[in-house]
Amino acid sequence: MRSEMVPPAHLEGIAAEEIPGEPVFREARPEPCVVVIFGITGDLSKRKLLPALYNLMAGGSLPENFAVIGVSRSDATTAELREQLRLSVMELGGQRISDAATWEKFAGAIEFTRGAAEEPATYHRLKEQLAAVDSAKGTRQNRIFYLATPPEAFAHVIDNLRRSGLIYRPRTSTTEPFSRVILEKPFGHDFASAHALNELVAASLDESQAFRIDHYLGKETVQNILVFRYANAIFEPIWNRRYVDFVEITAAETLGVEQRGAFYDDTGVMRDIVQNHLLQVLALSAMEAPVSFGADDVRSEKVQVLRSLRRITTAAVPRAVTFGQYDGYRREKGVAPDSRTPTYAAMKVHIDNWRWQGVPFYLRAGKRLASHTTEIAVHFQSVPLYLFTGADKCQTVAPNVLRIRIQPNEGISLRFVAKVPGDHLSIGNVNMAMRYANAFGKPLSEAYERLLLDCMRGDATLFARRDEVEEAWKFVTPILETWEKGREPPELYAPGGQGPTKAETLLEKSGHALTPL
Ligand code: BG6
Repeated sequence: MRSEMVPPAHLEGIAAEEIPGEPVFREARPEPCVVVIFGITGDLSKRKLLPALYNLMAGGSLPENFAVIGVSRSDATTAELREQLRLSVMELGGQRISDAATWEKFAGAIEFTRGAAEEPATYHRLKEQLAAVDSAKGTRQNRIFYLATPPEAFAHVIDNLRRSGLIYRPRTSTTEPFSRVILEKPFGHDFASAHALNELVAASLDESQAFRIDHYLGKETVQNILVFRYANAIFEPIWNRRYVDFVEITAAETLGVEQRGAFYDDTGVMRDIVQNHLLQVLALSAMEAPVSFGADDVRSEKVQVLRSLRRITTAAVPRAVTFGQYDGYRREKGVAPDSRTPTYAAMKVHIDNWRWQGVPFYLRAGKRLASHTTEIAVHFQSVPLYLFTGADKCQTVAPNVLRIRIQPNEGISLRFVAKVPGDHLSIGNVNMAMRYANAFGKPLSEAYERLLLDCMRGDATLFARRDEVEEAWKFVTPILETWEKGREPPELYAPGGQGPTKAETLLEKSGHALTPL
């Protein structure tokens, strides 16, 4: 009798379970290698790269034969440098290194080559040190060069690596050693500089050796976009112009520019977030099914989306793009007191292809906003309303919205309408939400951890290919040029708010509204 009282499991909240059996795709174990970090004492290394490598070691994911070489100008001893890194990783890496033994093991794997990245002599020393590390650690001459430097240094480093024979020809079998280069963003400042940088990369490296990082692609929730779209029969048939009214892609942050004022003032939100992270998320959300999950199959489909973006001409910029700047930005350290650099951008974008013709995609990114929200919201079209409208009826039927929450509170939710219990036909909105935090009982891995491992495995799927980067710049550059040639100041917005009020005018005519942050 009791069992009748218990609701069946499928009606009890959200039940998630891993499907038993071998994974659809099992990642190979990374090969023995040395990771050479240019810029090891910089912010990125301390905040992201070293914590990621440390965690990978603690989790047993790194190859046994592994080492890090940091290129550093400092004269400090190796022991002093290791201690400096430990302190700053603890401070900036957002983690406690609670396991002293693992830190000791990790620190023991870090060596240093002294010298400046632009001096050829540094590379002679690096070469000798790599040979010594190979014989001490069995790293089989496999090298990853991580360019965590300001982009101005890329040319020097790549050129010097090639001249000193540190870049091999692309391997033709796994018995040969590999050399790979990871290039941090920003990859270029506009189309011309990104193209020039790609030419420089191509002069020294085969495309299979170039790993252009966009850390958004390493986020679990971003990788889930393709699984969600293509492993579920019910969404893909409605994922198009016939059923979708509009799509919002938002990357809102509550933080300001923090310590990076000088860098940011030269960069702005379009180069910092829109050209890379947002357009990557857009491409994954809008692309066709790839032939396989292979690196080139996925990236070729993303490029098609970027190529289909309707160009926003100079004349159209005021109608399609809103720029804003948070009040107080000009007083940040390193920022020009009369800066016009936008810290917020919202834009209406069209994808001119068969699937998406006529469906606006609203992209929005900004700093110092009301909430930290990165998400894709797919707003579906309304149902025929005749049953629910009329002179004496005032409840409105809200269209279905599917939200893919990239961060924080990672997960997916679907809004639908249901009858509210009672005599009357009263309707209510229901939000059905799956949270990654409790769905599978497994923590989400950090983007940089995944990306570093993928590079060690030689898997470039989650890195941007040359043509992707250039197509994204082709779209963004005319907008930037229009803005930068103009004189109009960006609309100031109050920190902690919704951003500039003008953003709403982008949507007014279409009857759409941005989701409040
Ligand atoms: C970086 C930008 O690429 O991404 C930063 O340079 C931004 O300005 C950051 O804050 C956001 O990343 P995440 O992973 O915190 O969303």
